Amino acid sequence: MMETILFQIEKIGKTFNNRKIFSEISFSLKEKGSIAITGRNGSGKSTLLKILAGVLTPTRGTTELKINNTTIKPEDYFNQLGLVSPYLQLYDEFTGWENLDFFRRVRNINVEDKCLDELLYRFNIWDRRNDYVRTYSSGMKQRLKYAFALIHKPSILLLDEPTSNLDAEGIVTVYRIMEEHKHNGILIVATNDAEDIKRCDEVIDLNNQIGKRK
Ligand SMILES: Nc1ncnc2c1ncn2[C@@H]1O[C@H](COP(=O)(O)OP(=O)(O)OP(=O)(O)O)[C@@H](O)[C@H]1O
Ligand SMILES: [Mg+2]
Repeated sequence: MMETILFQIEKIGKTFNNRKIFSEISFSLKEKGSIAITGRNGSGKSTLLKILAGVLTPTRGTTELKINNTTIKPEDYFNQLGLVSPYLQLYDEFTGWENLDFFRRVRNINVEDKCLDELLYRFNIWDRRNDYVRTYSSGMKQRLKYAFALIHKPSILLLDEPTSNLDAEGIVTVYRIMEEHKHNGILIVATNDAEDIKRCDEVIDLNNQIGKRK
């Protein structure tokens, strides 16, 4: 993670079927840092995170991602970032291991089996790696999403409701990952949880849409 990152969001807005969700969201992150995105239910936190991940396009404004001075196209953002979100789909009829292995092949990620094992260990689901995901508890699925998000060692980590469904031990693991990422890269978290917010340098509140420095 020795690369230089610039992630610049300029006056983005999103409208769904004539309903304005948010507008004029701007921020810029260089090298490293962390931002919490807060706001009431339906204020657009998940929508904004999807735009940052390059899976949704903004109605207005622009996102710019530069890694080592090379501009990355939004459709290639996924190569550079990890996303944990309630909207991520896992394959229920595959095992946890097969899910990771499948993702690794489809995305052409060059990591050894050992790395997948380490991720599964880290999230404490290694002993269930050969069970079908449909038999996983909701917390186990959340843990597997973290393994997905980190498989390619991304410099940018986007988390939507990071600790949802996790037990105390899982939450500690997530906090550790958040700390690592904000010091080595970029961390953006959509949350209303005070403990998550506390861990970020900056807060963007979608209720009043003004980026505030703490
Ligand atoms: N595909 C879509 N089509 C139409 N409206 C949508 C779509 N996706 C989201 N919305 C609307 O956009 C608004 C923001 O939704 P979003 O899920 O981003 O909110 P949120 O802040 O993440 O809420 P929560 O706190 O409940 O997770 C809501 O009014 C929602 O109904
Ligand atoms: Mg949401």
